[in-house]
Amino acid sequence: MAAMTTDSTGTARDDATRPGGPADSPFVRACRRRPVPHTPVWFMRQAGRSLPEYREIRANVAMLESCRRPDLVTEITLQPVRRHGVDAAILFSDIVVPVAAAGVDLDIVPGTGPVVAEPVRTAADVQRIRPIGRDDVPYVDEAVRMLVRELGDTPLIGFAGAPFTLASYLIEGGPSRTHAKTKALMYGEPELWHALAGRLAEMALAFLRVQIEAGVSAVQLFDSWAGALSEADYRRFVLPHSAAVLAGLADAGVPRIHFGVGTAELLGAMSEAGAEVVGVDWRTPLDVATRRIGPEQAVQGNLDPCLLLAPWPVVEAEVRRILDEGRAAPGHVFNLGHGVLPETDPEMLTRVVALVHELSARPADRD
Ligand code: CP3
Repeated sequence: MAAMTTDSTGTARDDATRPGGPADSPFVRACRRRPVPHTPVWFMRQAGRSLPEYREIRANVAMLESCRRPDLVTEITLQPVRRHGVDAAILFSDIVVPVAAAGVDLDIVPGTGPVVAEPVRTAADVQRIRPIGRDDVPYVDEAVRMLVRELGDTPLIGFAGAPFTLASYLIEGGPSRTHAKTKALMYGEPELWHALAGRLAEMALAFLRVQIEAGVSAVQLFDSWAGALSEADYRRFVLPHSAAVLAGLADAGVPRIHFGVGTAELLGAMSEAGAEVVGVDWRTPLDVATRRIGPEQAVQGNLDPCLLLAPWPVVEAEVRRILDEGRAAPGHVFNLGHGVLPETDPEMLTRVVALVHELSARPADRD
């Protein structure tokens, strides 16, 4: 049982600074580029449809509804920790949970993703997105507090969607391959774009603050679709807003991870946004990514999620390659290059965790 202390709000929570506690875990240490006993590993979308126990618990509950029930959030978040022995849990929620809490009428449609009833197109639409705080997402606050107690020494990762990725869902009205309407608004009405992105940055910051105050040990900013942009456009239209989210957490005392897909050309720019860790997809080897990111940040990644559908010897060789390439970085958190696919055999994930731990085990060497 983890040592407990009582914080200023009277809530029993883990003493994060205790040696061996979540802030001293291999995951948080790797984020901070400190020596680790083994390379930590977790998987984006580790809680989800690859797990039969997840499918069972979600059988009669809609996605957004499940995100608003702390008992379900807690159970679903813990499932992959119990099953795989990953080095971190990630809160079960979705990037559009705060958007719905801000008054936007949306749903998460199975097999499709977020669908927005009235897409954002005008300044009045932007105005209607209300600022949020803890009272708008009480179920997130409650779930994080329950999880921190349950998880003991295992760190919990909080997250939010970055302004570009959230804006794309809001402007397109749903998932998009080209992000054409988003780019049309960005190029055609830059003031409106910046007003929307600024509001979404405030939302992401508020949502992450709620999670940090409730006790998460790290946060990840998901800019999943940023790879749709050129570096010049990313720098002009997106970087200032994502940087504002990360800067707002500079004093929060938890490492920040910044992730996107298809970002090979953006890694240098993304690394300027201010996170301790840059997430890398499977297209860029970690040693190459490290040259683009520089020596001041750790990397997270980057096994191709599709590889987990291949026979084990193929997976094993790729895990070895990624660990080798990750040694070029000043800190490495093993992960996939994007989320776990629903058709993945969960046994593969359990084996990857064991292999990463075995291959990276180092004798005690602590700072
Ligand atoms: O385990 C975890 O990673 C934590 C939970 C999590 C979910 N969504 C649960 C979820 C996280 C971190 C997210 C973030 C998220 N949501 C992102 C960024 C990460 C990424 O994958 O790029 C994005 C783009 C979304 C939007 C979204 N929500 C999509 C594209 C989908 C999938 C639609 C589908 O059915 O294929 C969702 C729904 C969603 N969010 C599911 C889960 C487990 C699947 C819905 C279900 O199980 O019914």
